[in-house]
Amino acid sequence: MRKKKKAESEKTNTDLPKILIVDDDEQIRKQIHWALSEEFSVFSAGDRTKALEIFKEEKIPVILLDLGLPPHPREAIEGLEALEELIGLDPLIKVIIVSGNSERQNALAAVEKGAHDIFPKPVDMEELKVVLHRVYRRIDLEKESLEERNLGQRVSFEKIIGTSPPMQEIFATIQKISKTDVPVLITGESGTGKELIANAIHNLSRRKTGPFIAINCGAIPDTLIESELFGYEKGSFTGATTQRKGKLEYANNGTLFLDEIGDLAPELQVKILRFLQENVLERVGGRQLIPVNSRVIAATNQNLETEVKDNHFREDLYFRLAVVKIALPPLRERGNDVIQLAEHLVQAFSKELKKPSKNFSKKALEALRAYNWPGNVRELQNRVKRALVLSDGPSIGPAELELEVPNGENGSSATLKEAKEDLERKILANTLQENNGNISKTAKALGISRPTLYDLMSRYGL
Ligand SMILES: Nc1ncnc2c1ncn2[C@@H]1O[C@H](COP(=O)(O)OP(=O)(O)OP(=O)(O)O)[C@@H](O)[C@H]1O
Ligand SMILES: [Mg+2]
Repeated sequence: MRKKKKAESEKTNTDLPKILIVDDDEQIRKQIHWALSEEFSVFSAGDRTKALEIFKEEKIPVILLDLGLPPHPREAIEGLEALEELIGLDPLIKVIIVSGNSERQNALAAVEKGAHDIFPKPVDMEELKVVLHRVYRRIDLEKESLEERNLGQRVSFEKIIGTSPPMQEIFATIQKISKTDVPVLITGESGTGKELIANAIHNLSRRKTGPFIAINCGAIPDTLIESELFGYEKGSFTGATTQRKGKLEYANNGTLFLDEIGDLAPELQVKILRFLQENVLERVGGRQLIPVNSRVIAATNQNLETEVKDNHFREDLYFRLAVVKIALPPLRERGNDVIQLAEHLVQAFSKELKKPSKNFSKKALEALRAYNWPGNVRELQNRVKRALVLSDGPSIGPAELELEVPNGENGSSATLKEAKEDLERKILANTLQENNGNISKTAKALGISRPTLYDLMSRYGL
């Protein structure tokens, strides 16, 4: 009997939408199977365990479920249990309860637990088919809308976390440019994720199976960098006992990441420019031109435009590299991203350190938001990791992050009055500063009288 059932499901056509029939009555299973097998890829199970087994293996989106299953064929316990387990595994699953009149109450209970619909027994096959086609159409629509939502509001993209508008814009740019070979210049403060972005561009490109070669132009001593980049021929200098390929050559068919490009010495700027223009290189001491096909991404935390103006960086090289510019905002300008990152990092580190994961206290969250993060994401990583190692309590507080709670006040738990006063004081101070302390101008700018301004200034001790 078992063998025969297996043979039945082996016959199923894998391109058709999948459906699973769960019923302890073999006659009914067979009947539905034959009726649907032209249009659906049909699986069947006689009990809860078998149903879950098949579901897990086949990821079936639609299930026809009879509630009275063994060992309690006269009750709904097993069926309801199966329903809950299925929904637990896949909240979008569509379970249709197939029930006789006597089971009506139980079927309604199942709908309350999340079943999609009820279908009456005895089963009218034509009607069932209509219902099923509607269900599959609905599944498609749900998938589409889920995808749209995910595109609009992504928490993470290629392992890069950020829902703030500037980061979402960067994700969109990356997606556009990764399919092309245009050079990209990534700028941003230290620790903002420049290398991470460069990597993401590579991974999304058709070069992803090729190498990603990163060169830190600032870290290699000037005397070594040329041979490091271009390679050398045997005997080209003392110590060159063998021929060696340079990093540029290794980047063939892949992506070349020139990190800290602003630190590149002037002689090398010329050589790199030539390499970029002609896609060929010459090893040190070599006579042969070697063609290299690579996509170039450069990064810097300097202001290259200023470096160009000050004649520290070649303008022609700058324009070669900066066809597309991606300016990574500092962490302090990414709003709530800092919280999302912190929560993500705590989980990642707790796995790495094999420590239980922890939450941040309310004060810690305030402190994370208020701090200005000069070292950006890398600094956040360090603080979170240290906090996780140090903290003994159930949650991480500001002290373990070595951060201060903003203003020594109790942040968001301040009363509305305090918050208003705080804001008023700030506006007052800023406007005074903008007007170089001129009372008439400040009063005018704020739209208040001079006596009122004096009054406010003394109240706030300005
Ligand atoms: N948005 C982000 N989501 C997740 N991890 C991030 C994000 N931004 C940066 N990181 C992580 O922070 C660390 C620092 O990032 P990365 O090395 O790319 O920064 P960088 O800008 O190249 O820094 P530097 O200028 O110091 O070289 C890395 O471990 C990176 O994976
Ligand atoms: Mg870097």
